[in-house]
Amino acid sequence: MTEALQKVLEEQKAYYHARAQEYDEWFYRRGRYDHGAEHTRQWESEVEEVRRALVEANLTGQVLDMAAGTGIWTQELVKTADHVTAVDSSEEMLELNRYRVQSDKVTYTVTDLFYWQPVMTYDAVFMGFWLSHVPPALLYDFIGTIAGALKPGGKLFFVDSRPEPTSTSKDMIDRVTQTLAQRKASPQFAESDYATITRRLKDGREFQVVKVYYLPIDLTERFKAYDLSVTVKQTANFFLYGWGTKLNT
Ligand SMILES: C[S@@+](CC[C@H](N)C(=O)[O-])C[C@H]1O[C@@H](n2cnc3c(N)ncnc32)[C@H](O)[C@@H]1O
Repeated sequence: MTEALQKVLEEQKAYYHARAQEYDEWFYRRGRYDHGAEHTRQWESEVEEVRRALVEANLTGQVLDMAAGTGIWTQELVKTADHVTAVDSSEEMLELNRYRVQSDKVTYTVTDLFYWQPVMTYDAVFMGFWLSHVPPALLYDFIGTIAGALKPGGKLFFVDSRPEPTSTSKDMIDRVTQTLAQRKASPQFAESDYATITRRLKDGREFQVVKVYYLPIDLTERFKAYDLSVTVKQTANFFLYGWGTKLNT
């Protein structure tokens, strides 16, 4: 990993750590993320589509929740899992997760996923809004880590963002629109280590984080290379989600 990339990933961790208390406003479309009733209805119906697919995927047994955050998805995983291992680099995120989920089925581990190796194999791996924060230079190896964490026949489910500017806060729409236009004009830049986006906290502090809108085909091909057979779907506007299994090899 280059020094520059290492620096961006450190900033990404610092950003989420600082954002922990306000993170849920994004998902629940509150405050700066409230784009009006119609938008919220559409967002919620697309969340519901993903939630139904997760129920259908039925992640049972030992489940790994990678970059678990405040527990928005951990609270869904405990409904089917025997046990969930929730991993994240931010202690504060995991504290909020513990408070929300309140389940003795969950074990919390603070760790940096780019340096993490599984010490056991799992029946299922879940990733919520995480793959888009894995830089292209590390994606292939990271998918190898996911594959290594799964038992043969184990399941995978992920949800992530589509490049829709209204996903972001009202004060950042113009900046995001500009970034997306720059990437369209220069696709090789979007696929570089520096596919970063500016994020702003309520207090005005700004951070650069990796944000890559991988295409379904990019993901399925890379998963396939590690014997992970994955189907990827997109909701109408906001989300991309996928599910699959590790082949019995
Ligand atoms: C977009 S949030 C997703 C949280 C949660 N999965 C969800 O869907 O609500 C990304 C999460 O990744 C965590 N994170 C950032 N860098 C990380 C790293 N290097 N290793 C582990 N977690 C990291 C952040 O603390 C944050 O909780």
